[in-house]
Amino acid sequence: MRAHPEDVPLTDAPAATPAATEAILLVGGKGTRLRPLTVHTPKPMVPAAGVPFLTHQLARARAAGIEHIVLATSYLAEVFEPHFGDGSALGLHLEYVTETDPLGTGGALRNVAHRLRSAPGDPVLVFNGDILTGLDIRALVATHRRTRADISLHLTKVPDPRAFGLVPTDDSGRVTAFLEKPQTPEEIVTDQINAGAYVFTRSVIDEIPAGRPVSVERETFPDLLAAGAHLQGMVDSTYWLDLGTPQAFVRGSADLVLGRAPSPAVPGRCGERLVLPGADVAEDAKLSGGTSVAAGAVVGSGARIDGSAILPGAWIEAGAVVKNSLVGAGARVGSRTVLDGVVVGDGAHIGPDNELLDGVRVWCGARIEQGAIRFSSDA
Ligand code: GDD
Ligand code: MG
Repeated sequence: MRAHPEDVPLTDAPAATPAATEAILLVGGKGTRLRPLTVHTPKPMVPAAGVPFLTHQLARARAAGIEHIVLATSYLAEVFEPHFGDGSALGLHLEYVTETDPLGTGGALRNVAHRLRSAPGDPVLVFNGDILTGLDIRALVATHRRTRADISLHLTKVPDPRAFGLVPTDDSGRVTAFLEKPQTPEEIVTDQINAGAYVFTRSVIDEIPAGRPVSVERETFPDLLAAGAHLQGMVDSTYWLDLGTPQAFVRGSADLVLGRAPSPAVPGRCGERLVLPGADVAEDAKLSGGTSVAAGAVVGSGARIDGSAILPGAWIEAGAVVKNSLVGAGARVGSRTVLDGVVVGDGAHIGPDNELLDGVRVWCGARIEQGAIRFSSDA
């Protein structure tokens, strides 16, 4: 994870570089690691900085010249279209294709190929639906065109690459191997990982086998490399975060509010706090560190909230302290209760005088009585 706004390139690729005009967004995953946030809501629809996370990705794609986006949906597919419709509110043309049974990342791409408008040699952008990044999308397309690659991949460097796809490259940036989620120390050959944004030459998508699950990471990329295809890596060290875990999601939302993570879709000015219209925050409550408070949420007198996301209709009672946490829709946090690094599922009620720390997840609708959970003996 990196969070240095000063790393964001100041210039776009030359204006003469023709941008890609269409993209596929992979939004069908179950979001298992994000539960309970993803019990009622698919991962890309969980609010970050006051709007469904996907809004930030769509707005960034639009700003890079993308006009047509196909959403490859599966888990809780029915919630995307009622929210985004035909995409015109964002200046986009959106289409939705749903897999009855999940087809994996590659199968999902093949499954939407019939909706693409690009010619066989044209570039098509592909994005994982849980990545927050300042990637220069035009530069990735320019790299793809310059190197005449079959697929170009955004790569980033992370201290611990084990949870990702490892992508070693040669001196020219050409990909030499793709190792998804390495299991042994010998497989950790690089700190460069697949950052989850690609440019595919359209014909490569058409060649993915149809009608069965395919993983681009475990099947398509390794098979193409073995067959001598040209996969090009572009290392871009701008802001990058996979929002696949609760801690990362809360961090990403706060970074959007603080302006560390770039997005044209943050609904308001970036700063220490983002209070959406329809939220009710007591005058003496303290909101800091990129905290967002959604419509219909209530924050009581003397409450302190730092680096956290308070979702619609949640209620933080007087004197509660909430740090680096996410409080789900309609959930309630009682007076003087302390949360640090916690996720509270939708509709859960935590009574007064509790203390929950470090990765605790309170399930949707759960009830915790007054003073039932405490860690400090003297508090
Ligand atoms: N339509 C559809 N169907 N989408 C899917 C499916 C499917 O069967 N399975 C996963 N997806 C979507 C997810 O919703 C997500 O947006 C994206 O594909 C990647 O899935 P994750 O579950 O988030 O994968 P990951 O984070 O473990 O690993 C991926 O991302 C890393 C970067 O964050 C891989 O691409 C790694 O190689 C990469 O390093
Ligand atoms: Mg992910």
